[in-house]
Amino acid sequence: MSGTKRVGLPHTAERAERARRLLARMTPAQKIGQMTQPERLHITPAQVRAHHIGSVLSGGGSTPGRNRPADWVAMNDAYWAASMEEDDRHLAIPILYGVDAIHGNGNVLGATIFPHNIGLGATRDADLIERIGRTTAREVLAAGVDWTFAPTLAVARDPRWGRTYESYSEDPALVTAYADRIVKGLQHSNGRGEGVAAGLAGVGPEGVVACAKHWVGDGGTAAGVDQGDTRADEDELHRLHIAPYVAAIEAGVHTVMVSLSAWNGEKCHAHRQLIQDVLKGRLGFRGFVVSDWNGVEPLARAYDDAIVMAANAGIDMFMVPESWREFIAGLTHAVERGAVPMERIDDAVERILRVKFACGLFDRPRPRVRPGSNGDCFGSREHREVAREAVRKSLVLLKHEGGVLPLDRSARILVAGRNAHDRGRQCGGFTVEWQGVSGNDRIVGGTSIWEGIRAAAPRAQLCTNGGARADTADFDAAIVVIGERPYAEGLGDIREEGPVRAGASNLPPGPGALRPYGDTLELATLHAGDLRTVRGLAARGIPVVAVLVSGRPMVVNDELAASTAFVAAWLPGSEGVGVADVLFGDHDFTGRLPFSWPREMRGANSAPGNDGRVLFPLGYGLRLGAVE
Ligand code: GLC
Repeated sequence: MSGTKRVGLPHTAERAERARRLLARMTPAQKIGQMTQPERLHITPAQVRAHHIGSVLSGGGSTPGRNRPADWVAMNDAYWAASMEEDDRHLAIPILYGVDAIHGNGNVLGATIFPHNIGLGATRDADLIERIGRTTAREVLAAGVDWTFAPTLAVARDPRWGRTYESYSEDPALVTAYADRIVKGLQHSNGRGEGVAAGLAGVGPEGVVACAKHWVGDGGTAAGVDQGDTRADEDELHRLHIAPYVAAIEAGVHTVMVSLSAWNGEKCHAHRQLIQDVLKGRLGFRGFVVSDWNGVEPLARAYDDAIVMAANAGIDMFMVPESWREFIAGLTHAVERGAVPMERIDDAVERILRVKFACGLFDRPRPRVRPGSNGDCFGSREHREVAREAVRKSLVLLKHEGGVLPLDRSARILVAGRNAHDRGRQCGGFTVEWQGVSGNDRIVGGTSIWEGIRAAAPRAQLCTNGGARADTADFDAAIVVIGERPYAEGLGDIREEGPVRAGASNLPPGPGALRPYGDTLELATLHAGDLRTVRGLAARGIPVVAVLVSGRPMVVNDELAASTAFVAAWLPGSEGVGVADVLFGDHDFTGRLPFSWPREMRGANSAPGNDGRVLFPLGYGLRLGAVE
């Protein structure tokens, strides 16, 4: 593994000493509780106190009350209060609450939802990435939450992976260029030790704890199988997948989440070399390492053995949504029998405490009285304008003929396509629900792509039947919004054979193993109606502007051929109006492909020698009137 200069988590000597003094007071039970992270549905505030729990999380779609910021603040306040009650059995150590705010605080109704990372990769605008981080952090704090499991630093190498949209690019250099900026944005910090606000060395007063994930090589698995096996030698692993983490650590990221995938056949959750020796040793990471969802269980037949493997590999906090009691018992037993040395426990707990001190958690008041809680900024116009700008800059023009763009605002525009008026679909996964939602009613605020078009072009009409019964003489052009429905993780995989099996995507085992998204990247096979609509209108003499809403590059040769213009819009999020901003000429197309675009299925992955199967190369993007 090539040498890498050491970098460190920003923390002052005084805070480090506070962590050490507190550690010295803790009992083994209090230490192990601090390493335990249950999911909110399976732990009460009283249990947080009784078992000295260090963190609680919301899985995707796990939301309190009416799922508004006030409900989240109330929930977090109750957990925080319980964790801070000190008596002769319990020490006051504030819990850290974690959520997947990976494209805005996506769980919460009314949040500003940004384009998913794949669209942000198309912007090539690192300054914007930092602004998005800062804006997201404010909306996370508005819910009384301190920690987001973001950024994803995956370098996705095969669009058959269901998490491709969580990756900024197939190009490690682009992911690396974004890594430090998104970390500084989320944490509202200037990087190592140059904290921006009084008393908080690594996190500004409007910042949250960031989490670089998933360590390491999650985007490089064979055939893009989620939680599959990344086969690479050490140099390739570093060049493609480790490099972005160096930048994130340099920027002072406080936590790293381990990948559920494997490297050369060995699960990352049990990989001592990767976690202890490389991440904590060579790269000098001084924050704490958190497991992924039930990432320990698959490591060994016996849960106790799996716990020993993961703890000794260097994992510090364990995301054990339901099995937190078994985890505590298993780790306690492992320490008692010497299978996990107390020094390892102390290292884990000191890291957790160091992060909590460095982020000022001990100095912050309870959630319900914090200045950021229930903040007016949540879903505000100012925030939505940042997201709208990101949408504009994310659009990639792949085809443009006959000067059909920009469209005239006075033109008679026929709008069709399943994804034209669907804010849920344009947001994609990890939005309100783990798997995302379809329709408009659960995306509070924002605009669908159709709503943006209607505002720009008063004579536009939305045709719900694909325009089949429209009199084409009545229209000058058509905009057809095509593409995928929402998905997340392994349920978004394109698998050429077999279901999504437990262990290959961490889903409940048994006969109900869930089906992947499909077995091909060909849109015409996955969603045949899209091509019928495009071809139907084109055949009747209407120039068609196709807009693809998808979490990845897809094989769209037929749709391209039938369209006069073709735009990749990725998963734009809540501000669909940004699409109309560009289609009607307020802004030019500036987006460039963050992934190479396949001509065929076999051209999908970025393996060398696939050049002949690539339709549009990484970086491709037309501008109106000029070719990039
Ligand atoms: C999921 C994902 C991870 C996420 C975590 C908590 O399985 O792999 O990215 O942060 O669980 O929802």
